[in-house]
Amino acid sequence: MKEFTLRFHGEQAQSKIFCGEGIFDEMYPALAANYPQVFILTDETVFSVYKETFGRLAGNSRVYAMPAGEEHKQPNTLIEILRAMAAAGLHRGDCLFAVGGGVVGDIGGLASALYMRGIDCVQVPTTLLSQVDSSVGGKTAVDLDGVKNIVGAFKQPNTVLVDGSFLKTLPAREVRCGLGEIVKHGALNGALFDKLIENRDRLFDLAFLNGVVPDNIAHKAFVVQEDEKESGLRKSLNLGHTTGHALELFDAKLSHGEYVLLGLLFEAELAKSRVLCDKGYLKKLQELIYTALGGKPGLPQAEEAACFAKLDKKNAISESVVITAPVAKGEYALLEIPYAEYARELREIRGKLQ
Ligand code: NAD
Ligand code: GLY
Repeated sequence: MKEFTLRFHGEQAQSKIFCGEGIFDEMYPALAANYPQVFILTDETVFSVYKETFGRLAGNSRVYAMPAGEEHKQPNTLIEILRAMAAAGLHRGDCLFAVGGGVVGDIGGLASALYMRGIDCVQVPTTLLSQVDSSVGGKTAVDLDGVKNIVGAFKQPNTVLVDGSFLKTLPAREVRCGLGEIVKHGALNGALFDKLIENRDRLFDLAFLNGVVPDNIAHKAFVVQEDEKESGLRKSLNLGHTTGHALELFDAKLSHGEYVLLGLLFEAELAKSRVLCDKGYLKKLQELIYTALGGKPGLPQAEEAACFAKLDKKNAISESVVITAPVAKGEYALLEIPYAEYARELREIRGKLQ
């Protein structure tokens, strides 16, 4: 088992992260016993796959399953969850466990921040993406009127249980989704990049993935501890995401992680024409992306997608788009590009990459 401790606001608040196969079954009873009541939020898919696991949980626990999917990461679902928490008679000394992917983690984290002005929260991420990214760092949110994550709060979980055995039931598409964030972390962290390159033929092998989950957590934990509220270093974690989100909103055919990988491809090219880059490294990164994508993909009409970058809350009130682009091993650059130029270049890059 691997353990990480994140400290925020001096020493007062901390998150403990435990990583290992089987740790949910192992650690749940003792953690739940710390609270009079435990409210477990999950989604209907995870609930049906893990019915037996939920059935065995301690007597002070009750389970609420929301509908699965990003389309339910909405204020009305949040209100339903808060209603269920109130109906269960949850008090300030109780705890919400979010057992699921990033959707459950984000909305559950926000519910725990709001209910009675804040109750304890334990994150139990069950997708690869949520294990390497969303369960760590305390960003919680719901979407509103087509803008992702625009209503939210920073709420650090008290504990995160990262149990690799949940990955056994994950569909391949969701594994690829998590790979998007893993490759992103690799582009920010030289040691992880080397590991991914050395194991290019094992990117979908669960044993390999379980081995690199802690490396990803260590990287993210370092970044959020340095810059919890994203005023500096945490912006690096947006690598590939501005263009990835724009392509995702326009095209809506692939998974989030696949669009992040495509975003990284485009943003590497945007960097090449603006800042001094290590072109040999960027070539290796692009090859890694193609492996994660299962080959050279068909690319969406990127020029038309460019305007969707305005639906990113970070760009909503500006005439320029800000991207975090890879430039060399472990290095990135923040680039501010006027929209018209961004759209034109995305068209040219698409032509070049096709
Ligand atoms: P998700 O939560 O929608 O899960 C994907 C699908 O997998 C769902 O259908 C779910 O029911 C199913 N599933 C979950 N665990 C499973 C398991 N073990 N076996 C079988 N099926 C399982 O999606 P996600 O990719 O985990 O998360 C995406 C969300 O995370 C987005 O809303 C995104 O905005 C958010 N996110 C947040 C942060 C953050 O820092 N808070 C970072 C990255 C992404
Ligand atoms: N996923 C980006 C962040 O947590 O900041």
